[in-house]
Amino acid sequence: MKTIIEPFKIKTVEPIYFTTESERETKLKDAGNNLFGLKGKDVIIDLLTDSGTSAMSAQQWAGILNGDESYAGSESFYRFEAIIKKIMGFKHVIPTHQGRAAEKILFSIVGGPDTIIPNNTHFDTTRANIEFSGAKAVDLLNKDGKNPSLIADFKGNMDTELLEAFLKENHEKVPLVMLTITNNSGGGQPVSMQNIKEVRAICKKYNKPMFLDACRFAENAYFIKIREKGFENKSILEICQEMFSYADGMTMSAKKDALVNIGGFLALNDDTLAMESRNVLVVTEGFPTYGGLAGRDLEAIAIGLEEILDEAYLQYRIRTISYLGEKLTEAGVPILLPTGGHAVYIDAASFCKHIPAEEFPGQAIACALYLKGGIRSCEIGSVMFGKKDENGKHIAPDLELVRLAFPRRVYTQSHIDYVAEVILEVFEEKEKLKGYKITQEPPFLRHFTASFEEI
Ligand code: F0G
Repeated sequence: MKTIIEPFKIKTVEPIYFTTESERETKLKDAGNNLFGLKGKDVIIDLLTDSGTSAMSAQQWAGILNGDESYAGSESFYRFEAIIKKIMGFKHVIPTHQGRAAEKILFSIVGGPDTIIPNNTHFDTTRANIEFSGAKAVDLLNKDGKNPSLIADFKGNMDTELLEAFLKENHEKVPLVMLTITNNSGGGQPVSMQNIKEVRAICKKYNKPMFLDACRFAENAYFIKIREKGFENKSILEICQEMFSYADGMTMSAKKDALVNIGGFLALNDDTLAMESRNVLVVTEGFPTYGGLAGRDLEAIAIGLEEILDEAYLQYRIRTISYLGEKLTEAGVPILLPTGGHAVYIDAASFCKHIPAEEFPGQAIACALYLKGGIRSCEIGSVMFGKKDENGKHIAPDLELVRLAFPRRVYTQSHIDYVAEVILEVFEEKEKLKGYKITQEPPFLRHFTASFEEI
């Protein structure tokens, strides 16, 4: 048997509303040609993000009813804390309403002016929280991770030589080292156990704590199991326990690998840092046994964290991504290779060679996928990260990408076949795509609210 089937059956369904191409033309125009401006119901297949978009299981919904809403000492908190201690092993578990709230607490304590935080690649919210505190965020990704067509097993690895040199020079300014598993901004690429160990050893040498940004920890563990020697016979739980055993703490967006629609946490070993974190928590989030969440949310996270360790689920999950990746690669569509854990990333610069970076090739593809088939994707290129020099000239980021992120347990194989068909149709007519210009943009995070016009 070769087909890897969805390891679940469907109990509750939600309708998809179909639109015609001409209806979508009007809707996109009304949204200023920005896919973030569309209503969810006007999208046929929504691949904008894998964050908070999971389908919860019957067990999780049952847990929602069992949630203990006690202000202090909720039973649901103790179940939440117990599973995190079992998988991640940290002494202190601090619930937050989502990942960036955990980041905000951590960096408001350890960050600040004259501090620098290295990472393989900071996700936008991590970078934003670090910079908001006055600190500097530095990316030290290995060089394979920057080459979109190179096939390698662990393109999310930190460049340990760079890290060593960086700490040698700057160790006084570095309060901790982060490592993002999997590396979202670099294509959802995994980090090897070997790399986690090496980063740990360097941190130890300079007496620096190591924190994992662990939103997609189970997807990372699955890649270690299938790609790294010595782990093939270990369970996902054992691999996770080993990964976290090398870390001093973690931030987590439960909206990814805890299979819930909202939630997050900060977990760590240091008693003083935990006390300081809880002091911020009570001011910004809530009492330490609920953080920014309801008891029912804690319950759903606790169950989701058990479910995510299921190897059959992870096999299906990673296979859905590579399945779309293979269909696109066979047809010559340039994508970031190999496919990662949660998304397929189209290499927009190679897809649309005739559209220069300053005319946003990724935006052109994202709009075309919506117009052609009602698919919502996310531009990760010059719109999101482009800057201007002092003469107003466009400075492009390293890569022009369009991310197709898969919500967990939501779409079936035929949905993905449809996505492939739409992309191939757009690819066949790629020369017809036109660039875009920005007609209005806010001062920060412009990709969310800017308006565009076709050139
Ligand atoms: N770290 C990583 C690696 C992330 O991918 C995200 C969110 C966060 C932190 C922040 O978590 O959203 O719960 O506050 N990524 C989403 C995405 C938004 O679409 O990739 P959050």
